[in-house]
Parts: sequence; C-alpha cells; structure tokens
Amino acid sequence: MNVTELARILRITPQELRDKLPQLGFDIGQKAIKVDDKTAQRIIKEWYVLNKKLEYKQEQEAQKQKETIKEKAEIQVPAFITVRDFADLTKLPVSKVLAELMKNGIFASLNERIDFETASIIGTDLFVNVTPMAESAEAETKEEDKLKDVLGKEKEENLIARAPIIVVMGHVDHGKTRLLDAIRSTNVVAGEAGGITQHVGAYQVVRNNRHITFIDTPGHEAFTAMRSRGAKVADIAILVVAADDSVKPQTVEAHSIIKAANIPFIVAINKIDKPDANIEKTKQDLANMLNIVPEDWGGKTICAPVSAKEGKGVEELLDMVLLTADLEPENLKANPNTSAIGTVIESHINKGEGPVATILIQNGTLRVGDQLVYDNNIYGKVRALKNYKGESIEEAGPSTPAKIIGLKLAPSVGDILVVGDGEKMKMKNIKGIASHRPSVAKEAAEDENVKKVNVIIKSDVLGSAEAIEESLEKINTGDVKVKIIHRGLGNISDSDITRAEATGAQILGFNVKATPQIERLARDKNIVLKKYSIIYDLINDIKEQMQALVAPEIKKVDLGRLKVLAIFRTEHKSQILGGKVLEGKVEIDSMITVVRDKEFIAQGKLSKLQSGKQDVKSVEQDQECGIKYEGDPIIEVGDILEFYKEEKIYKKI
Ligand code: GTP
Ligand code: MG
Repeated sequence: MNVTELARILRITPQELRDKLPQLGFDIGQKAIKVDDKTAQRIIKEWYVLNKKLEYKQEQEAQKQKETIKEKAEIQVPAFITVRDFADLTKLPVSKVLAELMKNGIFASLNERIDFETASIIGTDLFVNVTPMAESAEAETKEEDKLKDVLGKEKEENLIARAPIIVVMGHVDHGKTRLLDAIRSTNVVAGEAGGITQHVGAYQVVRNNRHITFIDTPGHEAFTAMRSRGAKVADIAILVVAADDSVKPQTVEAHSIIKAANIPFIVAINKIDKPDANIEKTKQDLANMLNIVPEDWGGKTICAPVSAKEGKGVEELLDMVLLTADLEPENLKANPNTSAIGTVIESHINKGEGPVATILIQNGTLRVGDQLVYDNNIYGKVRALKNYKGESIEEAGPSTPAKIIGLKLAPSVGDILVVGDGEKMKMKNIKGIASHRPSVAKEAAEDENVKKVNVIIKSDVLGSAEAIEESLEKINTGDVKVKIIHRGLGNISDSDITRAEATGAQILGFNVKATPQIERLARDKNIVLKKYSIIYDLINDIKEQMQALVAPEIKKVDLGRLKVLAIFRTEHKSQILGGKVLEGKVEIDSMITVVRDKEFIAQGKLSKLQSGKQDVKSVEQDQECGIKYEGDPIIEVGDILEFYKEEKIYKKI
C-alpha cells in the first residue's frame, strides 16, 4: 500500500505518518513510499490504541517532570537571544536547551540567535515561563545612555543649579492630581474625564524663590510605562498614599519603580481630613508591605500627612521636598549655555497646531528656531514654545517643561530629542512613525488557531495609545488575542473606515471625534465604531468581547485508581467487574483508562457503580466495588483502572 493512501485512511499527512510510525514501534524509514500490506493492516488496526498508549506515556512523563520542578521559573526574553544566553537565563544546562531545540527541528549552535517565539516554545517544554522583555525597555536603556553621555561630558565649571524634578506617583484616586492642584492652587482634577489622569502633566511652582518642577502620573494599572518614564526623568518622587485606603497594588508598583530608578522619595499620606483616615494603619502597612519605615518610627522615610482637599500639610511637604533636593545638590546641576537635550513626556497631534510635544529639558536651553532631532532624524523646527500655563516663551532652560509647536512629526513619549542637524527623514520613515514601536501583540497575534479581535486604535495622544495597547496586550490569552491592525493619532477618518472594512476590525476612538458623515459611513458598512474617554471602559468592552470568543478548556481531573480483582461478565462492548479502590475515589459517569504494566491498554466509561449490592454514586479509597465498564472488553484481573472526569473550564479574561 502507498504511504499516501495509508496516511489518507488515518487522516494525517504522509510526513506526519512517517514521523509518527517510529514512535509507535514501526520503522518504515523516512523516505518510504510503500508499506507492505500486512504491516499496513496492522498499523490501521492498532493505530488508535498505539496513539493512546503514546499519549499516555508522554502525559506520565510530563507529569513526572512537572513534579520535579516545583515552581515554574519565569524569565524575560528579548526579541532575539543567543542559545547560550537563553540557557544562562533559564539556569538549564546548554545541552538540554540544544536537545530541546533539536526536538523542534532546530539545529542551532551556542552563539546562534533564536527568536522570542522559539524561546517561548522550547521554554514551555522545559517548564520555564518565557515572557517578552518590553521592547521599550531595551530601547530606553540606549536612550538613557545618550543622556548620560551628554551630561557626563559637561565640564564642572559650566554646571549650575537647576530646579529639582519631582514625580508624583501612587494608586489610582489617591489624590496625586489634587495634591498638585493644592500645590499650584489651581484645579485640574475638575477638568479631567472621570477625574482620572490619563496623561503625564508637568508643572512648575516657585517656593522660597526656588523653582520646583512637578510631573503628575496616572495611577491606573494601565499606565505602568508612563509612571516608569516619569520616574526616569525625575530627581525625587512623592509617593501618595490615601490614609483611608492605605497601600494598594499601584502603590506597591510605584514603589518598585522608584526603587528601580534609584531616586529618593517622600511619602505623602493624603486625605487625612476624611473621617475614616487612619494614618497609623497606613504607616503600619507601608512598613509591613513595602519595608518603608517612617522617620518618626526610627526609620529613614519622611511620611508627611497631608490633606490635598484642605491644603493641610502641603507647605510642609514642599519644604521637605526642597530639603531632600538639598541633600545631593551636585546631582541637580546642568549647563544652560549649550544646545538642548530633553525627554518627551507628552505627544499628540493638535488639529490647528499639528504635532505638539511636551518636552522636559534636561540640559542646555531650547529656543524658538532650534531644529530637533531624534535618532539622527529631523523632527522639525521649534516654531513656538509654551510654558505649562500655556504662555508663549522664547526659551526653556534645564528642568523646564515646555510645549513645542512646529514639529513635522509627533515623537513618541520617552524619546530623547536633541538640537542638531540630523538627516532628512525619508517619506517612508515618516509614515511609520506613529507606530514605530513594534507591538508584541501584533507579532504574537499571527497564530492561525488563535481567535482574534481586530481593532484600530485612534487616540489624541501617544501616551494613551501606548497605555491602551499595553492593557490590551495584558488581556491576551493563548486562545484569544486582540490584534492591533493600526494605531494612529487624531480624529477618526475615512481611511480608518476603509482599513476597518478590509480587515474586519472595529474602530476604537479614545478622546477623539468622528464626524456625523464618518459615523454614518461606519453604520452603512456595518463597522463597529466606538468612542471612549475613559480607558477602563474601553478595556472592559474588549474584555467582554474576548470572553465571548473563548472556547472552554477541557481539563482532565483525576479521581482515583482501582485494581481489578474479578471479572464477572464479558459482553460485546462491556464488562462487569469487581475491584478495590487503591487511591482517591470512583464516581459514577467517570471516564476510565485501562492500564496494564504501566502501559495504556484501552479507554472506556463507567456506567454503573455498586457497593455491596447497592447502586451508589461514589466509592472511596480502600473500599471494594462492582462496576460496569463500557468499552473494548479486554480488561483482565490485575489491571489498573484510572478514573477521571473532564471539566470544561471557561478561562476568565
Ligand atoms: P488618578 O490620576 O486617576 O490616578 O487619580 P489621582 O491620584 O490623581 O486622584 P485625584 O487627585 O484625581 O483624586 C481622586 C479623588 O479624591 C477626587 O475626587 C479628589 O477630590 C479626592 N481627594 C483627593 N485628595 C483628597 C483629600 O485630601 N481629601 C479628600 N477628602 N478627598 C481628596
Ligand atoms: Mg491624577
């Protein structure tokens, strides 16, 4: 018989058949075209059982391996990694990694690079959880070096004191923005959608004739990237903790970001005016959960009680900020008399003004007329500069946040821009710029078996688009993923509609508008177009859609094992037998795997269960029972029956 014919009967491809047969104990050779008829008949007859046997064996092995490795190790891997580095990270012998690669058909040498996907596949087989290293983390390290380089080259005599840059961080709604309002005596909270900060805002205040720059960050979990960027450009952090709510997840996260950034910080215990405020408990939690010991408890951290609402304790807090800044004055210096370098903390496209970026100057002075460059590419000339109050200014020195108008391109948040000549960017690059950070979701969503929710994201500022993308990536599961077809800035346009139509995507607008014509067009073409101003609403909507798409996972739940002691009756498709429960329990309606000498023999179902002469629902360990087994009647005395049930698990997104 031809191998192709045999493969067709068995419903697999000829190559799969050739690969599988040796594992089942038939070796017909990798190049075989024909199989003799006798062997072919045997293969057809035994195919099901042999496959089950193999599966059973593999399952047992996997189980054993799992037991030896108690906790799944977790590692972060960049887009590409050498085999050697991967082995180092996983703490596994190189030979084991190479063997696993080989099993997957990859013959790599030690110094050869494997991509993330490969690393993650072999990681799973090696019981290591492989997660992608944030692309931006890699890129940002390079960027920071650029800044350090510039500052390192400055001569000591050119450096003069600059304003300290303070980042305000903490859990959502703990009062960061309100505290900044109190510090500035304005009212920003009132102007925010749902009272939630979704951008990084930067402000300056003057106290005792000294300037202080403040950066506000959002507290919602979606904004990790923005918080960590805030911490990176700051000299000191204020960790806001509400006294009526104490330490919460983003308090913990903000604290670890502050620690990673290696900057001093002060805790502001806020909302002390509230009746249920509990300063002592908050301090207790800070000490227990974060190892932050307040000064008045003999520790090192200033924990200042404040009420942003009543303005209580705010002046004292400011004084402590200045005190902390004065502890290391040599770190707070810059040269104002040189060309500017700064980090983009906000970026969006404004209808009238075009791309608008807020930059925090870190060295030098930026002037109207300067040309800004990122990565040797010209981003455009500064046509106008505005301070945080929206007033036009001619120049912005170190530690000053300034809005830049006149750029040709919207830079990404976190980009470090310098004044320079650079090169003219090619049109091709310009087009790709708004999405020039590759998204992990985009790459990972390519798998054919994975259900996808295609989306087009349009937003007002890049920071929000990034936060949305990051949150969507987090809710991806192995079965259903959000595929970001396109990400852009500005209002929803007819090209978005065309794109949505071509890709079956829905359009998600965040803080952007759509004209009635566009809305109508979307309706006519049956395209879902939704607009949001609060990020959680968007994420929750998508979560719901994803949940509806996930097929339940079938999980095998082992119940128990029984040793067959007697066969009472054997029929065409069933047997009645008696046995003793060795471990666990036996339940009515369970599935049965028949095992002899640790090998899979057959599979069937339990249809009747008796204890004594009584029908029962279950029988426990050490008890004897009689059962009716439905399946191939090949059970013998001494066989082990393994009982299990299949549970449908609906994965929560
Ligand atoms: P996100 O930006 O969303 O992370 O929140 P946030 O930390 O900036 O909180 P925000 O300043 O928006 O304050 C949240 C809510 O708490 C608002 O309703 C504030 O008015 C209120 N709030 C802030 N500080 C105080 C305070 O000291 N006392 C009282 N009673 N309420 C406060
Ligand atoms: Mg806020």
